[in-house]
Amino acid sequence: MSSDIVYLDGAFIAAQDAKVSVFDRGFLFGDSVYEVIPFYRGVAFGLEPHLKRLEHSLAALRIPLSTDLPVVLNELVARNGGGNLSVYLQVTRGDAGRRTPVYDASMQPTVFACCNPIRDIYADGPDGVSGIAVIVTADLRWHRCDIKANGLLPNILVLQQAREAGAAEALMIRDGVMTEGGSSNLFIVKSGVLYTPKLGSEILGGTTRGLVLELAREAGIPYQETDLSYENLLEADEVWISSSTRAVVPVLSVDGKTVGDGEKGPLWRRMFELFSQFHHRLMTGEE
Ligand code: PDD
Repeated sequence: MSSDIVYLDGAFIAAQDAKVSVFDRGFLFGDSVYEVIPFYRGVAFGLEPHLKRLEHSLAALRIPLSTDLPVVLNELVARNGGGNLSVYLQVTRGDAGRRTPVYDASMQPTVFACCNPIRDIYADGPDGVSGIAVIVTADLRWHRCDIKANGLLPNILVLQQAREAGAAEALMIRDGVMTEGGSSNLFIVKSGVLYTPKLGSEILGGTTRGLVLELAREAGIPYQETDLSYENLLEADEVWISSSTRAVVPVLSVDGKTVGDGEKGPLWRRMFELFSQFHHRLMTGEE
């Protein structure tokens, strides 16, 4: 399987031939937004919520876009051999031909997409998923985290901090309230109830977060969207993170302290099963 064909401004071309102007505002200012969408066996997992969020991000930045994205993304995946791929899609405000912070509303956006191979997380069942360690650190980001913007420097710094501490994710805290991970949303379980930070401008509305809540509702698992403190995290029976390419992942330690009994929890196993069933229905078209 090859992942070498990319999409750039209307054309499917070899990655090495794809070039963007040095005056592109995505490069100069991070004036751009993005999405990461998983495809399993060539089929998109949650395309609609990803495109809806992209619409939200584009509207917030007032970037107009007329590209038929479902057609483009499916074609890109097919040209890269189908299979298990994550598609990275980036839309910048475009090339202004010079460096100036203000922009002309008539600019043509730059649209770029490429594929990366991913593991089929559902292939090996819950035993194939490894629990992770996380750290908690200050949330240094701006106050529009609901926009999936490319200005990811704070995220990169905390993710690097996590890696250097031997952890797989950094959970962030702002004014005593847990927000989210550097590239994921946060869930905790306490006494059989699932809790997650509420939506707002301090977190990204994760598509996987949305699916967790939808599946919980259907399965009758009680949940609440609410503020969570560091203490809530330490006292939780289970902690999970969620993201498109990882689905739901159990967190087994926070800042070196064991979560619950240090094993993948029963509610996580249940949620993983619900995700697997959802994935199966998507793959087979069975109800
Ligand atoms: N990140 N919060 C942040 C800050 C994220 O960057 C992400 C995803 C999420 C989860 O969103 P979703 O469930 O829609 O993937 C939450 C992607 C995967 C990335 O940056 O690579």
